[in-house]
Amino acid sequence: MINKTIIETLANEESDQIILDIEGIRRQYTFLQDSLPNTQIRFAIKACPNDEVLAALAQKGAGFDAASPNEIIAAIKSGANLKNIHYGNTIKSNEQISLAFKLGIKDFVTDSKEDLYAVSEYAPNSNIFCRIATDGNGAVWSLSKKFGCSINATVEILKLAKNIGLEPVGVSLHIGSQQLQVDAWNKVFSSLAELLKRLAKDNIYPKYINLGGGLPASGYLDKHGKVMHADIKKTLKTIKDGINHLGSLSLRPLQFIIEPGRFMVADFGVIRAHVVRLTTREQLNGEKQHWLYLSVGRYNGLYELDALRFPILFPTVKSNQYVKAFVAGPTCDSDDILTSENAPISVPANLKAGDPVLILSTGAYTTSCSSVGFNGFLPLPSRCVELETTHCNGTKADRILN
Ligand SMILES: Cc1ncc(COP(=O)(O)O)c(C=O)c1O
Repeated sequence: MINKTIIETLANEESDQIILDIEGIRRQYTFLQDSLPNTQIRFAIKACPNDEVLAALAQKGAGFDAASPNEIIAAIKSGANLKNIHYGNTIKSNEQISLAFKLGIKDFVTDSKEDLYAVSEYAPNSNIFCRIATDGNGAVWSLSKKFGCSINATVEILKLAKNIGLEPVGVSLHIGSQQLQVDAWNKVFSSLAELLKRLAKDNIYPKYINLGGGLPASGYLDKHGKVMHADIKKTLKTIKDGINHLGSLSLRPLQFIIEPGRFMVADFGVIRAHVVRLTTREQLNGEKQHWLYLSVGRYNGLYELDALRFPILFPTVKSNQYVKAFVAGPTCDSDDILTSENAPISVPANLKAGDPVLILSTGAYTTSCSSVGFNGFLPLPSRCVELETTHCNGTKADRILN
């Protein structure tokens, strides 16, 4: 939970940066491992490809979900065991498959016959996971159309894999990112049970089920500034029960993998930005609006602003007077806004240029999604620190703000 000491520590930083609480990330790993014993955790590198974070996770025993040869190289550099690194992207060129194979990768995920044939040609005798499609209902980002295939197609692909010299070892899926509905997991386990039955008819017995990502962060606000409620304890209990049930149905031993991205890092990242200017502008209809411009915005990797709002703190400013303001980033781009159209937030009326600003729960998909220099604004440096924890909850953050 974010507390005063942490806020003061971060407020003392002199320049803009992304601060990653490496100790919080380690503890989150332990929490997940304790909640899902006997499940192998493979961190989805795309969520935070920071070398120190990868090394810290590898030291705890994590494997990695890599989506390109460069991510595979980063995973190998982290010190993780090669057999716990897989190529999880269903979209890969012949050259990328070949390079991954040369790097020693054995496990490839696919969802089409075309990709499967390419794996058999450029990574012969490899292990194949077929990704099943999910509807993504209940998730903030559904990932449903671009990836995965039907149960029928999965059976066909795994059968074909066997016939062309590959080892059909597993099934994978992604339930949708920031999945907020616990019941979505029950649906997934039902589909998996049906799939195992179908595969057994063809004498295919997967060794692995990769449950993918989707576990939610707790610190986000929705577009209206309300906490995005995620019941993580219930979610993990449902997954644990689902794993046990599926294991009991399978005729051969099943091993489970989970590849969380945002859950591992989102709440353990804070952006330190600063105030550029608090202004008042009269709109076309005569309405006077306050606009607060910050030194950091969408192009610093905050592209998920389309679907959520990050809690914002002004750690050094004491004020009795607040104004409702829209908050925007520094670029000359009209999409670079951190609040939504009808939901300005309370900000101290006496904010001045240079005052530090903390943007919470920004540890996931920020360092990886930052633009290289839109309008000449450079990517933020990132730094790992050992904080108590920066895990936060949006309402608490807003309470500190007010
Ligand atoms: C294959 C795969 N696994 C895991 C993840 C991580 O998902 P999340 O951040 O929702 O945990 C992603 C994210 O897009 C993904 O594509």
